[in-house]
Amino acid sequence: MIDSDFIAGLPKAELHLHIEGSLEPELMFALAKRNGIAIPFASVEDVRAAYNFSRLQDFLDIYYAGADVLREARDFHDLAAAYFDRAAADGVVHAEIMFDPQTHTARGVAFETVITGLLSAIDEAKAKHGMSVQLILSFLRHLDEADAIATLDAARPWVDRIGAVGLDSSELGHPPEKFARVFAQARALGLKLVAHAGEEGPPEYVYQALDLLGVDRLDHGNRSLEDPLLVTRLARSGMTLTVCPLSNLKLCVVDDMTAHPIDRMLREGLRATVNSDDPAYFGGYIADNYRAIAAARGLGRDDLVTLARNSFLGSFLPDAAVTAHL
Ligand code: HPA
Ligand code: ZN
Repeated sequence: MIDSDFIAGLPKAELHLHIEGSLEPELMFALAKRNGIAIPFASVEDVRAAYNFSRLQDFLDIYYAGADVLREARDFHDLAAAYFDRAAADGVVHAEIMFDPQTHTARGVAFETVITGLLSAIDEAKAKHGMSVQLILSFLRHLDEADAIATLDAARPWVDRIGAVGLDSSELGHPPEKFARVFAQARALGLKLVAHAGEEGPPEYVYQALDLLGVDRLDHGNRSLEDPLLVTRLARSGMTLTVCPLSNLKLCVVDDMTAHPIDRMLREGLRATVNSDDPAYFGGYIADNYRAIAAARGLGRDDLVTLARNSFLGSFLPDAAVTAHL
């Protein structure tokens, strides 16, 4: 039995976190009040009771609706500041966080409003917690290529404060190939590349993320396990998978935590990491994810240390900083 303090005390990087998915119901209510917005819930308990999902799209519908309370730069600041405080308590010393600009620009909130709010919280987290943070601009894959290109164009003035681009939202029916050109543009800007693939989508989408987008890291990647040749390729190339156990359970990617493949991934030589995805919606932050997987799969300290080391190896920190964290 692993004690909880060991997990929280393990220095770790969080590599798969949607900042909009860290919006706790309490903050949702506070921001709704501050911005004079009506929300379709009577109480915080009501909101939490609505968080029952049987697939990715059920979650996405409620996640995009919740984001409507985010209007001003200070809202994005407060959202991110709350996440950094919570993550620091869980032993996170480096975070690479995704944000979904199109969720906000589609509602008339300017890209500048979103990023200036997030950047102010990032600067504070560095001063307050000594945490390093990189931003991952994530494109919504249910929207078209032109919308993604316009979003990358809007980001150009801030490109030196963005580490990577990503690809999220409804996976099925929206294969990576749809975004090959915008990913090529992002690469030309010097950005790293990540994409959700193999969460609900088939192994073919993982191949596309590798071959057509040229990703530096794979978000989720669970369904790669269906294809032994793909597993061998991922293992040999040292590709990092950002696995999210509580998300997998809540979105029915696994039926039960006792059936989660995290240790199988490690045994097969995959560089798996543990992350929280959308912690306000899935029932826990990063240490909760480590605890859940340790308990359900009987992981020992050695596996947990491997997972934490993998998080630095899979990060976009410069080599010297990675080495300093190992
Ligand atoms: N998958 C796809 N899109 C998302 C997710 C996810 O787990 N979380 C937020 N957007
Ligand atoms: Zn995700």
